[in-house]
Amino acid sequence: MHFDLSEEHLMIQKAAREFSQNELKPGVIERDEHQKFPTEQIKKMGELGFMGMMVDPKYGGGGMDTISYVLAMEEISKVDASSSVIMSVNNSLVCWGIENFGNEEQKQKYLVPLAKGEKIGAFCLSEPEAGSDATSQKTTAKDMGDYYLVNGTKNWITNGNSASTFIVMAQTNIEAGHRGINALILEKGMPGFTVGPKENKLGIRGSDTHSLMFDNVKVPKENRIGEDGFGFKFAMKTLSGGRIGIASQALGIASGAYELALAYSKERKAFGKEISQHQIIQFKLADMATKIEAARLLIFRSAWLKDQHLPLDKESAMAKVFASETAMWVTTEAVQIHGGYGYVKEYHVERLMRDAKITQIYEGTSEIQRIVISRSLLS
Ligand code: CAA
Repeated sequence: MHFDLSEEHLMIQKAAREFSQNELKPGVIERDEHQKFPTEQIKKMGELGFMGMMVDPKYGGGGMDTISYVLAMEEISKVDASSSVIMSVNNSLVCWGIENFGNEEQKQKYLVPLAKGEKIGAFCLSEPEAGSDATSQKTTAKDMGDYYLVNGTKNWITNGNSASTFIVMAQTNIEAGHRGINALILEKGMPGFTVGPKENKLGIRGSDTHSLMFDNVKVPKENRIGEDGFGFKFAMKTLSGGRIGIASQALGIASGAYELALAYSKERKAFGKEISQHQIIQFKLADMATKIEAARLLIFRSAWLKDQHLPLDKESAMAKVFASETAMWVTTEAVQIHGGYGYVKEYHVERLMRDAKITQIYEGTSEIQRIVISRSLLS
């Protein structure tokens, strides 16, 4: 068992850290305040290879392992969790889904520009009445012979407006239940496909979250991923690995807040000494660092399982639930250590606290992760 990172891992971590400090940090407060999508920053992330890190180089990706992706996600999330969710959905849900389950034509047409960061992807499962209960899809994809006619609404779609390529889960055969769901690739601009208004969110405000409406959208049969009825399993398998990305985002948010709190505690004086000299603060820092390290190890284990192509449903759910609850707890403590300064925007920790909350909700709430874990334990 090795705990050391390779030279290549350290280089990727350093590159992501420098990019975050130099390119993401300036303007992050304003982007959050004005809900401004990081267009230029995401373009640069594409050029640096962060948008298709694990994709085979023959499809324009970086050919890296999942540990590299976790390291980059952590560094980017320390500074800008809005940029990291855009990156995570593109890498782990859209690119991974098409690379692993799409056919050669779909890979050439859709995966290559997504992996190069020339286009952005979105993963569309959630609906007004099907969030956690994902089998209850109401969006329909009626089989019309050589195309599907798609009707319905999707909610809370990350990259909803910025994406060009959308993987949409839709029900073709209602009698077959979840076995009647298909995963279809839709393109922005298809007639009948409308993007709804932007959600005004608590956190990750730089990312664009929208509803999508489909009104008789004609989708060619060749845009279906996998066999007829494979859509739900496609979504579940993709989300299992995708949860490593969100767990890494949560880890980055937590470690970003911890680093700020640690530095602040050595500067701020109260009762005649730095607050880091007070045991109450020391114990808080010790607990923060311990939980972060435990989250990191759970994430590394899931990433390793993914790279070995071993089952990881339970492990990625454990990593996600633990990392996201750690992020919420650590960021709240970081605000507390900063006192009044923690409650204002200039010190960054209040944003990290707001950003942390979504990691307990998307790609499966904490309750869903516990369902996945307990089913695995009891099966
Ligand atoms: N891999 C492969 N197949 C799986 C699977 C997995 N990980 N999990 C379930 N399945 C299969 C089951 O084997 C079953 O198939 P069969 O009947 O053929 O055996 C089928 O899927 C249905 O499974 P369940 O009976 O377990 O379904 P369920 O309704 O009881 O619950 C659930 C499943 C785990 C709760 C699921 O609904 C779920 O994960 N919900 C959360 C959805 C979610 O994560 N949404 C996030 C949206 S995406 C997002 O947030 C992206 C973003 O923008 C950031």
